[in-house]
Amino acid sequence: MKTASLDGSLSKPEIYRDLTLSVSALIEGETDAIANLANASALLAQAIDRINWCGFYLLRGEELVLGPFQGRPACVRIPVGGGVCGTAAASRRTLVVPNVDAFPGHIACDPASRSEIVVPILQDGALRGVLDVDSAELDRFDDEDRRGL
Ligand code: SME
Repeated sequence: MKTASLDGSLSKPEIYRDLTLSVSALIEGETDAIANLANASALLAQAIDRINWCGFYLLRGEELVLGPFQGRPACVRIPVGGGVCGTAAASRRTLVVPNVDAFPGHIACDPASRSEIVVPILQDGALRGVLDVDSAELDRFDDEDRRGL
């Protein structure tokens, strides 16, 4: 499927390939995680279309705490095991949610969000947090987004 991107003509795999290269180049040599996540969230928001929120929650004990993001103000603390983010964190598995209203325990931070994808961030097998991307469209995310993110 062709999706709009910065130049309007790339396929999803091409968008994620370029996004991965851009993020890697931007964080090269920088050791501050918050600075890197902030820039990564800005690049994600620029490159991925039809989304209304994208950002990171970082693991702090048994909670996910809001990190750098792009979009409307969001919920600050999510228990591991709670909501889509907490469930993805607890299971260490990417969750693709076509309709957030049909996900038991979904936490509605932005009422405009209709679908969502959450990717756990693992470093050497240890959970560090999650990447969360929302869309105001139903069923916005698919396997290409899962692989790319
Ligand atoms: N909807 C998420 C909470 C975070 S907001 O989408 C930014 C959830 O259910 O975990």
